[in-house]
Parts: sequence; C-alpha cells; structure tokens
Amino acid sequence: MNENAASSLEKTKALLAKHHRQGEHFAQLMKDTFDGRFNEEFWQRWDDIMVPVLSENPVVLDLGTGPGTFLAAVAARHPGVRAVGVECADYMLDAAGDLPQGCEIIIADLHDPHLPFDDNSVDVAVASMVLHEMHQPVRTLQEVFRCLKPGGIFYVRDWVRAPLKQYLDNADLDVFDKSTSVAELEDLFVHFIEHNRFSSDDLVFLLEKTSFQVLEQTPLVDGRHARIIVKK
Ligand SMILES: C[S@@+](CC[C@H](N)C(=O)[O-])C[C@H]1O[C@@H](n2cnc3c(N)ncnc32)[C@H](O)[C@@H]1O
Repeated sequence: MNENAASSLEKTKALLAKHHRQGEHFAQLMKDTFDGRFNEEFWQRWDDIMVPVLSENPVVLDLGTGPGTFLAAVAARHPGVRAVGVECADYMLDAAGDLPQGCEIIIADLHDPHLPFDDNSVDVAVASMVLHEMHQPVRTLQEVFRCLKPGGIFYVRDWVRAPLKQYLDNADLDVFDKSTSVAELEDLFVHFIEHNRFSSDDLVFLLEKTSFQVLEQTPLVDGRHARIIVKK
C-alpha cells in the first residue's frame, strides 16, 4: 500500500471509530442484531433472486462485513462458496476471529477500493448498513459493477432519510429530558445526520448512474432503512 492509501485508511479508521462509538461493543451489537437484518425475508430473497445466479464455484462479496457473520452464514448454506468480506476496522477484524473454510476478509478502504477480483468474476455482492458510513460511495459502487458478472446481483440495505421525530421516537434517549447531557445530545444529533445521509431515491440514483438495473426498492423499519436490489 502506498503512503497516500495508508494515510487515507488511517483517516477512515478514525472516522469509523467515532461513528461506532465503542468499537468492541459495536462489533458485538452487529453480531447480536444480525438476525434482524438477515431475517427470513432476506433469506427468501436470497433463495429467489441470488441463488439462481450463483455459479458452480460461487464468489460472494460482502462490503463492510463487520465481524463477518454474513460470510459464515453464506458458507454454511453453500459449501464450496468463496465468501469474501471487505473491512478495515481493527475491532471488527478481531471480532471476526477464525471464520469457516471458504471465508476471508480483505483489509481495504471502501472509499477507493481496488479489490483483487478480475472483471466479471463475482456472482453476488452485499452492502448491509455500510454506505451511510462513508464520505462517498461512488468508487465502491463502480468497483462492485466492475467485479460482478453480467447478471450478477448487488443487495444494498441501509439507513435512509427519515424525519427527526421518527428518528428520535426510535432512539433510546429522551432528548428533552434536562438530565440528558450535552455530550449525549451532540452524539445523537451527529448520528441523526450520518444516518440521514442518503434518501432511498438517492441510493437508487447512484446505483443507476453506475449502470445497475434496479429490481427492487423497498422501505424497511418504518421507512428508516431501505432495501435495494440491483442487477448488472
Ligand atoms: C454498520 S456495520 C454493518 C456490518 C455488516 N455489514 C452487517 O450488516 O452486519 C458497517 C461496517 O462497514 C465497515 N465500513 C464502513 N466504511 C468502511 C470503509 N470505508 N472501508 C471499509 N469498511 C468500512 C465498518 O467498519 C463496519 O464494520
């Protein structure tokens, strides 16, 4: 890695450490809440939309894999799969520990990834709750497009813009309680901005500009998240 890439990776790690508050705790939270994001509805779509495009020796790419729980779930379902995560936060890599056979994690910054895949070589890519954590997702979307096979599927789930009231109604902090500290208020309102980075239509716009074809765009959890499934 050259000096510039190393320095921007360090900047990204600092950005993420701030956003994740306590890294080890957040990595555990990602494990504990995995079944909510990758629920029955997700696996139904997996069977209906993703499984049909898996080749004999499938490659599945998980951007911002966190503790790698999705990689292990895919390996359990598809023996022989190559399930590759991309991640850069040290506490996530530590939490991933030893992954099952067929799984690996590449350490890279998604702001400008140069992934070790040939053009048109990946069957399915996933980005779950990742794009909102980035300054810009353009290079990642372009890299996914390059790596995916024609007909390959890209699944995106993320926070999308929602009104402040809706956001606060679901926060575990009463911002109008005078005992709530200024630090807690600041933290919550900074996260409100970060979780409101893109609307669902913004994500679709970015994906379409990258030449993906949209198959599905669905609001989730009261409109605070969106599920978008696209095809190359
Ligand atoms: C909210 S977590 C979601 C983890 C996992 N995808 C899931 O849904 O369980 C987002 C993950 O993306 C990673 N991430 C965010 N921006 C990144 C970047 N620029 N480069 C590499 N990883 C990044 C974070 O470190 C974090 O582990």
